[in-house]
Amino acid sequence: MTKFLKVMAAATLLVSSAIAAEYTIKLTHVVSPNTPKGKGADFFAKRVGELTGGKVEVIVFPNSQLYGDGEEMKALKLGNAHIAMPSFSKFTSLVPEMQLFDLPFIFRDKDHLYKVLDGEVGQILKDKVTAKGFVALDYWDAGFKHLSSNKKAILLPEDAAGQKFRIMSSHVLEAQFKAVGGNPQVLPFSEVYSALQQGVVDGAENPLSNFYTKKFNEVQTDLTLSNHGYLGYLVIMSESFWKKFPNDLKPMVLQAMKEATVFEREEAARDDDDMLAKINEYAKASGNLKVHTLTPEQKAAWQKAMEAIYPQFYKVVGEDLIKKVQAVK
Ligand code: LMR
Repeated sequence: MTKFLKVMAAATLLVSSAIAAEYTIKLTHVVSPNTPKGKGADFFAKRVGELTGGKVEVIVFPNSQLYGDGEEMKALKLGNAHIAMPSFSKFTSLVPEMQLFDLPFIFRDKDHLYKVLDGEVGQILKDKVTAKGFVALDYWDAGFKHLSSNKKAILLPEDAAGQKFRIMSSHVLEAQFKAVGGNPQVLPFSEVYSALQQGVVDGAENPLSNFYTKKFNEVQTDLTLSNHGYLGYLVIMSESFWKKFPNDLKPMVLQAMKEATVFEREEAARDDDDMLAKINEYAKASGNLKVHTLTPEQKAAWQKAMEAIYPQFYKVVGEDLIKKVQAVK
């Protein structure tokens, strides 16, 4: 490169980095940036910047930095934040039918799950959220949940008896733990580590990414790869913000979200193996954590005990909706 070209290149860089964005989108979430959701949020922010030529800047606030559980949706309503991706359980008071996703063992595998999310049932639930004054965008993935404890290994339902478990605010999750004799306690995600550390609760249920990136492995002695429930997200946007957002820039934001959804789901698929390897490494090196897998008989015992709660939710979630999910092949 000639000296002239070098100077020109440097000047262009300076000018472009000095262009202030005309619009800012504040995105809030509660997990670590190093999770599928965190990485998806950062990817979205980058793509919005690229597709709008820097006109729109997405600022990501991870780790409940700006808003925690229960505050995110209020912030969107007030226009103080613009995009959030709460897990399904956090929609309980807004759209109780979203608790469908909390039903233990409702999904056979990821293929079944995605067919439901991207099919009729997923759309019905999005419409219900839209009717409550949000823009419902895409479904994102965290993964199947696993049980952990610092009291004792949980291999059979009776092992959960008498243990206190942190849950998200969902009646289904409450019933699920009560069905196996556990004591569920609702706590915001940001308080789970200290609650486990201080013995406010004995155990929890988490996908591997949340378990490891929040260092729950340090405050739990036993992790059972139970895959008993599912954790996923609905990305939502503030309706009032979107109404005022310039029409010519909307397609770029939606395109960035479409790409981010594909990216996030791929990350989630990859992430489980990575996280399990890291957790096993930690278990081996520290000697402080045991990782258990379930035999088919043990898994069947969990399934029997937990699925018994379904009829309790036929009214709230809708028996037809549950049956629709089960019918998806
Ligand atoms: C939880 O509260 O356990 C999860 O909803 C956190 C999250 O957003 O993944």
